Amino acid sequence: MEALKGIKVLDFTHVQSGPTCTQLLAWFGADVIKVERPGSGDPTRGQLVDVPGADSLYFTMLNHNKRSLTLNTKNETGKRILQRLIKKCDVLVENFAPGAMERMGFGWEQIQKLNPRMIMASVKGFGPGPYEDCKVYENVAQCAGGAASTTGFLDGPPTVTGAQIGDSGTGLHLALGIVTALYQRHETGIGQRVLAAMQDGVINLCRVKLRDQQRLAAGPLTEYSQYGEGIDFGDTTPRAGNDSGGGQPGRILKCKGWETDPNAYTYFITQAAAWPKICKAINKPAWVDDPNYATPNARLTRLNEVFDAIESWTMTKTKFEVMQICNPLDIPVGPILSMKEISEEESLRETGTIVEIDHPERGKYLSVGCPVKLSASPAEVKRSPLLGEHTKEILRSELGYTDNELDEILESGAVG
Ligand code: COA
Repeated sequence: MEALKGIKVLDFTHVQSGPTCTQLLAWFGADVIKVERPGSGDPTRGQLVDVPGADSLYFTMLNHNKRSLTLNTKNETGKRILQRLIKKCDVLVENFAPGAMERMGFGWEQIQKLNPRMIMASVKGFGPGPYEDCKVYENVAQCAGGAASTTGFLDGPPTVTGAQIGDSGTGLHLALGIVTALYQRHETGIGQRVLAAMQDGVINLCRVKLRDQQRLAAGPLTEYSQYGEGIDFGDTTPRAGNDSGGGQPGRILKCKGWETDPNAYTYFITQAAAWPKICKAINKPAWVDDPNYATPNARLTRLNEVFDAIESWTMTKTKFEVMQICNPLDIPVGPILSMKEISEEESLRETGTIVEIDHPERGKYLSVGCPVKLSASPAEVKRSPLLGEHTKEILRSELGYTDNELDEILESGAVG
């Protein structure tokens, strides 16, 4: 049994943030009806195209398990169809620019009138405030949410991260808001508005940096490399390079093959409890008891020397050998895996985290599967829909239109 079976989602999302959310709901078994503009659909269908004439990977990797309905919501017949769909569905999800749903005639007030049980969920760039009317994209959110100012090296510019914390991160937050609202609806019988602002989602993910901002008042952040290097702290959380955020010094170190392989590196944490084993592994047994190295505090001003010594050892091993040696010793390390390595990793295929999908236009391709595993509701990943693939099916089965009525709807230009 699928966990969200029976929940109908009217999916007005496009690009990445909203589709991430509705894809999760679909993986968990909700019936997600993706409403797309006739003729063009979600703009990502045609973005970053690798197979001419086929839906792009951008689209196909964000819209699994959904049905596609083309509907012009600015056409009078289209509006009437939408009103009927709103009455039938449990959740409406959208990530249009601020005000677009209202301009369409389907703001929260109208939707509540049509269906008081409806949960209306939105991604916006910013919450209420000076920037609420702005259109926002991934990297804008990373910058406005504090991620960019705290990412990168101290002597370099602010840096964005490849993880799409603004888009996909906010989609995850929104999905949690939706299932929470569905849960509350069991008690109250009525829906509610759910808003996930991208800036808020990024701030939530950057909380350790807000933690550090406040710790600055109590003195320098000793676990940051700049402390050991004698560089003064300013009045805001600085960029910390590859330092680990948890208070245990960690860095990215070269491994065997680094001269030619850009990912021949490992993350290495000098966790206090593992120090004696680290010293033995890297052949520095004297450091276990030497007062200059034996305690975390003593090491703080010697971190460059300590990591240089560890790196001299990691450079003699591959990143996988480092993992094999350190794991049994409880020394926390992590190989820097390339996307090629991830896409070829058997265990990720076995768990369904990476899946191979067949698509009628593009053939076989790799995609992410559901990253959250429910024991009683395993996610079966199905390919994304072609534009308007389910239009007639939805109009017939959900709204009961006859073939004659369908012909009239087609003529009106409301679908197509
Ligand atoms: N039928 C008729 N009109 C439709 C339609 C349909 N099925 N689907 C969309 N439209 C219309 C909308 O009503 C809107 O019209 P309006 O401007 O007259 O009100 C128009 O298409 C475009 O929507 P919009 O959201 O403004 O697209 P955009 O390309 O200008 O902006 C974003 C894109 C992502 C910047 C913007 O949607 C946004 O800021 N979204 C919120 C934050 C977000 O999710 N950002 C990350 C995206 S990954």
